[in-house]
Amino acid sequence: MNFALILAGGFGTRMGETEKPKQFLTLGTKPILIHTVEKFAFLPDFEKIIVLTPKEWINYTNDLIKEYIPLDNVVVIEGGELRIDTINEGMEYILNNYDGNNHIIVTHDAVRPFVSHRIIKDNIKQVEEVGACDTVIPATDTIVESKNSEIISSIPNRTYMYQGQTPQSFRLNELKELYDDLSEEDKLKLTDACKIFVLNGREVSLVKGDISNIKITYAYDLKVANFILEDNND
Ligand code: CTP
Repeated sequence: MNFALILAGGFGTRMGETEKPKQFLTLGTKPILIHTVEKFAFLPDFEKIIVLTPKEWINYTNDLIKEYIPLDNVVVIEGGELRIDTINEGMEYILNNYDGNNHIIVTHDAVRPFVSHRIIKDNIKQVEEVGACDTVIPATDTIVESKNSEIISSIPNRTYMYQGQTPQSFRLNELKELYDDLSEEDKLKLTDACKIFVLNGREVSLVKGDISNIKITYAYDLKVANFILEDNND
């Protein structure tokens, strides 16, 4: 079975002062989260769409889903402290409620509302063929590494550089096994689930992302998102 994990467990601190975490802010006529969940919920490919939010936002999220999505394939549960813990909560939910453990999980940032059906379907296909995948676009800016935030330590060849987006997709049993082996210290360093695979020598294939599949991180990104939305509706 395929499951979508919509990661909405953060508080959006980099957005600055807002009355709600950024995933609940309005984009066009509805909350960012709803745009994102709709992309998955109306596809026939998923057994369940699991939305993970901070505990105090679960009731609010359930109300939103009821208001906007007339389907019964969406469930809202509590996320975790770190993004990777939120993914783990989603995996635990699946293990506790469904038989088997080699399901495909498509994990996606709630704050990337412009993910396309093509990207989602390519993720599922790549997990079927390779076992794990990451959605990326070629880096347009040169990537400069500095280990001390003052002096450049290296400038990798841009030809080989990509910017990671989401979805990132895996076989549940493989990610769960690697997650369960992580120390608390490892978890703080591993902000990216694909990195866990790569560090363990597993293959992660690339899915072509899209320049419009932006992550809303700063207030400015919400302005850009409104522009993309208008442009898409033209
Ligand atoms: N996320 C999550 N669980 C966490 C932390 C983050 O599900 N414990 C989700 C966020 O809700 C978001 C996505 O992961 O949809 C991408 O993370 P990011 O943009 O860093 O979100 P926040 O942690 O909310 O933002 P900030 O770092 O500015 O506080």
